[in-house]
Amino acid sequence: MNALPKIEARINMLTLADLDDTCAIENRAFERPWTRGNLVDSFMGGHIGLACRVNHQLVGYAIVMMVLDEMHLLNIVIDPDWQKRGLGQLLLEAVIALARQRDCLTLYLEVRNSNAAAQKLYNLNEFVMIGVRQQYYPTNFGREDAIVMRRSL
Ligand SMILES: CC(C)(COP(=O)(O)OP(=O)(O)OC[C@H]1O[C@@H](n2cnc3c(N)ncnc32)[C@H](O)[C@@H]1OP(=O)(O)O)[C@@H](O)C(=O)NCCC(=O)NCCS
Repeated sequence: MNALPKIEARINMLTLADLDDTCAIENRAFERPWTRGNLVDSFMGGHIGLACRVNHQLVGYAIVMMVLDEMHLLNIVIDPDWQKRGLGQLLLEAVIALARQRDCLTLYLEVRNSNAAAQKLYNLNEFVMIGVRQQYYPTNFGREDAIVMRRSL
């Protein structure tokens, strides 16, 4: 099968004006999405959002939280219609650049044990597994573990 063509995309800040589009992508991309309320709380709570846009259309975003010299990647998503074209990689590189720009020393994240696509992306970008939070995430059938990963900057 031929690979999808790579896309010209721009990374800039995610703002409250993106709320409707963010909700829509969240609902398309996740079985258990953040709610609109979760997203508003995140915007209001001082988390930083990076937007990935193609021709001004929001196609993905990452949300991070800074704690002293640590950055925590809370969410990263590419709209399913735009996946597998290098945009997740582009967005993750932007997160790493932001963390360095803000003088962070370490980037942390948690990922579902079953999320092979995201784990592959993180492994490619030098994240290493540092632990497991047992039964952390709810699923449609019960609960599943979170893999905790770290990348030094
Ligand atoms: C994880 C996610 C952000 C990747 O975005 P993407 O734009 O599709 O990723 P890219 O096209 O940049 O791919 C980067 C690398 O990730 C890996 N990858 C991406 N999708 C994959 C898949 N479905 N299966 C296996 N590996 C995958 C590949 O190694 C790929 O590199 P390669 O194509 O050179 O082999 C996207 O799948 C997504 O939004 N998933 C739903 C939300 C989610 O699970 N977020 C993570 C929460 S922890």
